Amino acid sequence: MRTDTSSRSGPAHVGVDGVRKIVLLGFMAAGKSTVAALLAERLGWEWLDLDREIERREGRGVPRIFRESGEAHFREREVAVTRELSSRSRLVLSPGGGWITNPGALALLGGGTFSAWLRISPEAALRRAEAAPGARPLLSGPDPLERVRRLLEEREPLYSVADSTVETDGRYADEVAREIEQLVRAQGLTSEAKR
Ligand code: S3P
Repeated sequence: MRTDTSSRSGPAHVGVDGVRKIVLLGFMAAGKSTVAALLAERLGWEWLDLDREIERREGRGVPRIFRESGEAHFREREVAVTRELSSRSRLVLSPGGGWITNPGALALLGGGTFSAWLRISPEAALRRAEAAPGARPLLSGPDPLERVRRLLEEREPLYSVADSTVETDGRYADEVAREIEQLVRAQGLTSEAKR
């Protein structure tokens, strides 16, 4: 278990008004949605899962969106919904693992955003992903472990811009949520009324 906050004196995206939004970054199956829901509950904030929101609006699941309209379309939807969230406050967002590959994704969320990277090993990610076969189109095809490793290697530099890094391997979601809650409370929460 490790929380790497040592390299930063404070989150780059959090201003004087405190944390208004939290976004959980990390690879597929790192537990972003589960942790985000628990964290939102602990804070009394709203939780929004970006994949579920896109699915709701499109009226079809992520695998079908990829199959019928392609990854580029899905990425456009991610950006479009994210843009709408910039003015929101007291929100915990769990986007999909590839959301961070959209250029400027974090900046779209606006000031006061605290980001945490839920780090997971390739082996643990694949083990968890295999519990929901077919749910993750980018892992279909031969040698999924190699695919996970390659994607993780590409994305780690993007995830690593997060304000903090939290290990998830072998840990319960509740423990991870509590850890992020402490990190966020240490930054100071927004005093804005809910809206
Ligand atoms: C993706 C991750 C998925 C989903 C889509 C693409 C990715 O979400 O958005 O299959 O590119 O890593 P999870 O991270 O919740 O699995």
